[in-house]
Amino acid sequence: MKKVLGTLSALAFAMGSTVSFAACDAGERVVKLSHVTGGTTHPKVVAANNFADAVNKELNGKLCVEVYPNSTLFGDSKELEALLLGDVQFLAPSLSKFGSYTKKYGVFDLPFIFKDMDAAMRFTASKTGKDLLNAMEDVGFVGLGYWMSGMKYFSANKPLIVPTDANGLKFRVQNSDVAKAMIAAMGGSPQPMAFSEVYGALQTGVVDGQENTWSNIYTKKFFEVQDSTTQTSHQLLAYLFMTSKEFLDSLDSDTRAKLVEIADRVTVAANNSVKDKEEGNRQNILKGGGKINELTPAQRKQWVDAMKPVWKKFESDIGADIIAAAAAS
Ligand code: LMR
Repeated sequence: MKKVLGTLSALAFAMGSTVSFAACDAGERVVKLSHVTGGTTHPKVVAANNFADAVNKELNGKLCVEVYPNSTLFGDSKELEALLLGDVQFLAPSLSKFGSYTKKYGVFDLPFIFKDMDAAMRFTASKTGKDLLNAMEDVGFVGLGYWMSGMKYFSANKPLIVPTDANGLKFRVQNSDVAKAMIAAMGGSPQPMAFSEVYGALQTGVVDGQENTWSNIYTKKFFEVQDSTTQTSHQLLAYLFMTSKEFLDSLDSDTRAKLVEIADRVTVAANNSVKDKEEGNRQNILKGGGKINELTPAQRKQWVDAMKPVWKKFESDIGADIIAAAAAS
């Protein structure tokens, strides 16, 4: 039986994160799960820790998972390469971060393509969605499941009520061509940047705003360095819980099957509880003094109209059939 203890736990605690850093037994194969989010209430933090706990219990003696949150092991720029090199075995990056490997995941970034997370979950459960899990098989990446995170909202150093309020503002975006085009469509200037750098960039005025879920805005304290957040729900944030083909192939078939079963179970549980976590973190922002702007239907329509032209731009990269399937969900 492993103890949830370890040299990194003190560091993670100091950074405001929970960590499932197991003291691995001799003879166990130690594997690493790295991710970039933090806090205790974030859906990815909870799912990653639940995965580690389940593996460490059910595959005790064989595998021992160490979780490294908060970009403590790898940040956005290095993690995918590290997975291919075998320096880490599990990741859960945002689907917006795969542009160098596949253009198809651009579908998840199209503004207003999903009405809400339920629509996104219907799409990921569909044949098209399931096929996309393995869009990067040729690279050696294996998708174990989609972990929903939430809808995204814009925050800035001034209230954003209609798209023209964003004119001339600099927005941090993930490294996604769709996100860059979306910000340009609303008259802003997109600034791709690693997640770990966002708080500092907002605080010092390197950027004026950003877009994220309630859970990220709360756990990374973005609300403390922004005027307000506007409830646009303009985009989905979801993760690919993933491993590498090389790692999976290195396991005996029983261990591999058990691992995949645990990943499936943890994914279902994570997605079942994600809406509650998002609502909890929305409330946490309000309790912490953050301001949230709600939109009237007419104001929201202006955001939809401003961003809709972005779809056409990426149709050939993503595939019209994939876009149609997502929109139909
Ligand atoms: C971001 O970079 O804004 C997010 O993808 C971070 C995360 O993993 O939630």
